[in-house]
Amino acid sequence: MALFLDSVDLDEIKSGMELGIYSGVTTNPLLLANIPPEDRLERLGSIAKICTNSLYLQVDRLALSEMEEQALTLVEVAPGRTVIKVPFSENGLKLCRRLRHLPLPVCLTAVFSATQAYSAAAAGAHAVAIYVGRITRGGEDGVRVVRHAAAMLSAAGMRTSLLAASIPDIETLAELLTIPGIDATIPYKLQEPLLKHPGTSEAIEQFARSARRQH
Ligand code: E4P
Repeated sequence: MALFLDSVDLDEIKSGMELGIYSGVTTNPLLLANIPPEDRLERLGSIAKICTNSLYLQVDRLALSEMEEQALTLVEVAPGRTVIKVPFSENGLKLCRRLRHLPLPVCLTAVFSATQAYSAAAAGAHAVAIYVGRITRGGEDGVRVVRHAAAMLSAAGMRTSLLAASIPDIETLAELLTIPGIDATIPYKLQEPLLKHPGTSEAIEQFARSARRQH
């Protein structure tokens, strides 16, 4: 199980990386939308300095040749630890096939069904990002889709990682983490509920009060 932080905010990433709980950072074009296009590569470079493990960087072009060119640029942001995120599509699968021969790891993203996840794995994807919250908002059960995809990949002996993404709340994360082998990427807003519990805060206050009485 690996946990990732889904963010392009440098303060959030600093705060998260200091904790040592994350295996890397995931990004996407929506998260980068508020940064002027000409500054985005520089922002990704700054993220690579703070996060010294895996970086998931997403292409935003649609034509295959442009996607490939962008992927090769993104890889240079953090050579050896960049995973190229590619939205699931026929061109996405083709790019995955091309990059895996280089070899460069690819995460097929915006996956909404177990059969898409299976196809991504068959194309040699390193990882598949399943959009749990968006699936659930669309009327299906996002966690169930992840379970189904995990069972399919396991039955086929496929080693592609399943990355639960678009996670809406801490309860959904907790449920996802019971699925064997699952990885998850979370928005910064879930970091506090992941760590905090009123019982722990109360115990720490009691310890501090007791220590003050002893001195
Ligand atoms: C994951 O890689 C995606 O960046 C992200 O989880 C998408 O989440 P959203 O549905 O909140 O946009």
